[in-house]
Amino acid sequence: MVLLVLSAATEARAAWPAPARAQRGIVASPQPLATRAGEAILAAGGSAVDVAVATSLAVAVTEPYGSGVGGGAFAVVHVDGETTTFDMRETAPAAASRDMYVKDGHVVPGESTWSARASGIPGLVRGLVVMHARYGRLPLSVVAAPAISYARDGIPVTEMLHGALASYGERLNAAGRAIFLAPSGEPWPVGTILRQPDLARTLERVVATRGEDFYVGETAKALVAAVQAEGGIWTAEDLAGYKVVERPPVTGTYRGFAVRSMGPPSSGGLLLVQMLGVLEAFDVKGLGFGSASYVHRLAETTKRAFAMRAHGLGDPDQYAVDWQRFIGPAVIARLRAQVAAAERATPAADIAEVEVKPTESTHTSHLGVLFANGDAVAMTQTVNLGFGSGHVAAGTGVVLNNEMDDFSALPGAPNAFGLIGDEANAIAPHKRPLSSMTPTILLRDGQAVGVFGSPGGSTIITTTLQLVLNCVDHGMDAGEAAGAPRVHHQWYPDALFYEPWGLSPDTRAALEARGHTLQLRHHLGNGSALWRAADGRLEGAADPRGEGTAGGL
Ligand code: DON
Repeated sequence: MVLLVLSAATEARAAWPAPARAQRGIVASPQPLATRAGEAILAAGGSAVDVAVATSLAVAVTEPYGSGVGGGAFAVVHVDGETTTFDMRETAPAAASRDMYVKDGHVVPGESTWSARASGIPGLVRGLVVMHARYGRLPLSVVAAPAISYARDGIPVTEMLHGALASYGERLNAAGRAIFLAPSGEPWPVGTILRQPDLARTLERVVATRGEDFYVGETAKALVAAVQAEGGIWTAEDLAGYKVVERPPVTGTYRGFAVRSMGPPSSGGLLLVQMLGVLEAFDVKGLGFGSASYVHRLAETTKRAFAMRAHGLGDPDQYAVDWQRFIGPAVIARLRAQVAAAERATPAADIAEVEVKPTESTHTSHLGVLFANGDAVAMTQTVNLGFGSGHVAAGTGVVLNNEMDDFSALPGAPNAFGLIGDEANAIAPHKRPLSSMTPTILLRDGQAVGVFGSPGGSTIITTTLQLVLNCVDHGMDAGEAAGAPRVHHQWYPDALFYEPWGLSPDTRAALEARGHTLQLRHHLGNGSALWRAADGRLEGAADPRGEGTAGGL
């Protein structure tokens, strides 16, 4: 009998795409041209933040259905051993009010999603300018140049852009159709060169004025005029008054790594740190990737975290969020005991009593940068649903977000992701809506060694969790971590979602025997993983579910 012995050189790895590898720095994004922009700035000697800003702007141009300058973002930045976060989340206009989407006791369908009143005041431009001013090494004109050329000279329509246009094109207003649809009203075919000259000029003005034009100049005027013309409530003061907020990260530890993630107004960091705290009590590696026991513990952990998400989470500048209620030692100990005791699936109704409807998620963009010197940026940016509200502000090329839907329009009423909230996330002037975006950095000895995150609405949090577990516990490389099948349970709907080929039939049967209701769902997330391998090399992979790439030097 011949025994196959695997040496270190021929170590077994799963068939998911091999990661890109680099020595000095690596970047991953959901669009190849955006990753290329980041690589060019890396090659030009840019800092990790320069690379992130270049990639972010290029994503904004090349993935207009996912994110853009008409939306917001969160960035977790680790430079010279210190972590900080930039909250460039949209804010509610001053004229917004608690019941603005409610009529006769019901949420008016479409008002918080597809109307001109669905958009919050965008934060991405000011956020990038603030980040760059603090940590940039190259001029903003150099960092923004690739994005501007993509907008001015055009980009080929990709499969995903074409698909997004086929799905959401009908919702675009006239200014949006003029850019994104052929004169026949059909989406541009794959491979067509899509030019966005108005957006190129908007970005040029952003560079020339260090962002001010977007908030108080020509672009600001055009944005307010366009929103008001379509029935929206933005004012010049709303834009002029937009503030980026620098906040401390949510911190935790997991199996010797320090975890740094985004705090409120994102729910992501608190839930991630909580879930890692709970799972650290279990032998995750020993349970084995994909086993019924592993998936069961994971689902029991995530559903409890999502049940807690529905209460007491919102904009910390308007509602006092008690972090300890989510990540304090007492709550982690209680949750560990509950998850350990749950031999069968705990019904969602036993965790709390409100019922919400299931819904599908759509788009958002995550990017990551990891340098060998230990610096890193994790950034997730969004216009919320595909092409945001569908309104493009005439003359600017700016796709307007529909982030107002991330507020709780009515306590207990689900938003587009089936997420519910309470008073903490009620609409109020200047308030930031609660998010699930979870840009996350793992540190070892004060140096960044992992960068993770994803789009996917509510699935962002569970995708990011699984990316971390895949690298830390399951010993996967970045390619395997990004490619491995995922599961998702968000408490309500009370279903355990799994991807095609993600769970074997006997694993599913074992989970059903434990009381789980399984539901197939395509594409949970479109994230990326950057990881410093044991040999010190940097690895990176964008999610094979999407079109993204990773690369570096
Ligand atoms: O901030 C949030 O949580 C949402 N606006 C994110 C939306 C999203 O991820 C859409 N999808 N893929």
